[in-house]
Amino acid sequence: MAQAVSERGELVLRRRGDGALELRVNGVFVMDDRETSSEELLADVALSGTASPSRVLVGGLGLGYTVRALLRDSRVRSVVVAEIEPALVEWMRAGVVPSVLDDPRVVVAVGDVRAVVAAQGDGALDGILLDVDNGPDFLVYNENSAIYSSGFLGVCRQKLRAGGVLTVWSSSASSALETAVRAVFGGCAVSPVPVKLQGRDELYYVYQGGS
Ligand SMILES: C[S@@+](CC[C@H](N)C(=O)[O-])C[C@H]1O[C@@H](n2cnc3c(N)ncnc32)[C@H](O)[C@@H]1O
Repeated sequence: MAQAVSERGELVLRRRGDGALELRVNGVFVMDDRETSSEELLADVALSGTASPSRVLVGGLGLGYTVRALLRDSRVRSVVVAEIEPALVEWMRAGVVPSVLDDPRVVVAVGDVRAVVAAQGDGALDGILLDVDNGPDFLVYNENSAIYSSGFLGVCRQKLRAGGVLTVWSSSASSALETAVRAVFGGCAVSPVPVKLQGRDELYYVYQGGS
């Protein structure tokens, strides 16, 4: 139903036989609109992990479920969304995908989440929520491996105010990610999320660190 090519490859949004909307990159499944509980849990963990989740940053947009879950909370006053694929933003603006971008609290920055986070002021954010790939062990874009490293997580910590929260989504358990979050934040809470993926039982994970 929609297709685009960027320097990272081919982005396809398609309607599956079971009626679900599915996003694929270079043929690799990224997500669908049937099983979105872990994307929403990423937001819920962040919302309950800090007393005042007023200004938050999300990377990336996807089909908008994490952002939508944040926007349901009236304490959230501003959401910066970093999305690397301009086509995804255009499809949402055009209504190909149900939009979260018409909420005045949302600002989209088209670009790499690393640059968008780096451009924030130190201590300016209450929360940073990272769901840009399938997790450190099943990367869609190899360049994203740096996002799960203590180097980038350290930059995230710098951008969070004291008492702020970081949450990271992963499709698999990763002891390396847990170690990196623990090294930067002094602790790491891991929430496994049981999901049904086209009939299969799977576990997804949310990693949380607090500043
Ligand atoms: C799994 S989806 C996010 C799903 C989202 N949490 C939701 O609720 O729909 C991953 C998104 O991150 C984007 N992305 C991938 N690498 C990125 C990067 N380095 N910076 C910003 N966005 C990125 C992808 O284009 C895709 O839209």
